[in-house]
Amino acid sequence: MKPNIVLTAAFPAVARDLLAGDFEVVEHPTEQSRSEEEMITILADADGAITLLSDPLTRRVLSSNPNLAIVANFAVGYNNVDIEAAKEIGIIVTNTPGVLTEATADLTMGLMLAVMRRIVEGDAEVRSTGRCEWEPLKLLGSSLQAKRLGIIGMGRIGSAVAARSYVFGMEVVHHSRGRGMPLDELLATSDVVSLHVPLTADTRHIIDRDALALMKKGSYLINTSRGPLVDEAALCDALESGHLRGAGLDVYEDEPAVNPRLLKRHDVVIVPHIGSATEEARDGMARIAATEIVRFFRKQPPLHAVT
Ligand code: DGY
Repeated sequence: MKPNIVLTAAFPAVARDLLAGDFEVVEHPTEQSRSEEEMITILADADGAITLLSDPLTRRVLSSNPNLAIVANFAVGYNNVDIEAAKEIGIIVTNTPGVLTEATADLTMGLMLAVMRRIVEGDAEVRSTGRCEWEPLKLLGSSLQAKRLGIIGMGRIGSAVAARSYVFGMEVVHHSRGRGMPLDELLATSDVVSLHVPLTADTRHIIDRDALALMKKGSYLINTSRGPLVDEAALCDALESGHLRGAGLDVYEDEPAVNPRLLKRHDVVIVPHIGSATEEARDGMARIAATEIVRFFRKQPPLHAVT
């Protein structure tokens, strides 16, 4: 019998192509985040699965089907998976590193430019007035040139952001796993702070009220990593008081919900978790995830195991 592989979304076609022939593939496309109950239902007959970063792979879900042997998470982040439970139960969990580095770094620069140069406000003005009036004092933003960028997390994506930032004439400092500049100093001296650490118990709210208070007055925060790295209520306070000049956000503390206080602000550029949303990156992610499934059932070791 062919192993049953559940795809919890409509992934790029390359995933199905790689699985075709050797597996029974069942696709469960959805546009909504799933509950534990829904996950248990759709994984009931699965021997393996390709899952979304929003799928709650809790101990209860992972232990609900004794045949589930491998979960290939379609993301580099895997904070949606109870890794300790997976290890104890003996389920292999893999992720998709590398292929989304450049796409996420590009979006980070896009958010930085958009918020610092007020691109979205300008777009809204032209659309609403139907006119383009040149005025000396209109929509003045901040140059990137000669500004200090503080990167928190100098892994693959943080390093790719640094490489791009040098070209814009920025000075780059970083704080990474206790190395580089002390975090307090980075926060207090950077004109822009950009987050590139995974979400763990240690990094949750790494940007809390105290960290925001330490940040330079008039500085910007960019987050293309995970929403819960930031205490969003404190971020809203910092923006509303004028302490921060703006933020560029791809991720949110309570996804899929977005804090209504953020939605009201013109100094926040908001996009829907699209850091890796290029055809190239998503194809690469699909290829990696499907390859992990194929390798597992051929009894080959995983290439990107996180368990
Ligand atoms: C990831 O891979 O973790 C991103 O958040 C989505 O590509």
